[in-house]
Amino acid sequence: MPVITFIEFDGTEHQVDADAGISIMETALKHNIPGIDADCGGSAVCGTCHCFVQAGGPLPAVDPQEESMLGLRPDRAEDSRLGCQVVISDEMGDLTVKLPEFQM
Ligand code: FES
Repeated sequence: MPVITFIEFDGTEHQVDADAGISIMETALKHNIPGIDADCGGSAVCGTCHCFVQAGGPLPAVDPQEESMLGLRPDRAEDSRLGCQVVISDEMGDLTVKLPEFQM
């Protein structure tokens, strides 16, 4: 079972056990992690689950819809992802998920 360390913009850390088969966004909401809004509920159309993801193993590829939403983020970085589009698997290993200063 992968462990996710969520790191808020102010450096506050939250470590949670993640369930394979659900997304980073769903995991954050389940554990009341602040900083993920998820206004669209996971349809990749709001961008308010933006986060910076580092994993021990491979992540799913960014599809064109995710790419287009990430392109709207002025704070996009190389490890930017939509948390709703990264479904956790055991192969990913443990994850570090940094949260942006704000969602928009
Ligand atoms: S929850 Fe809306 S894009 Fe991820």
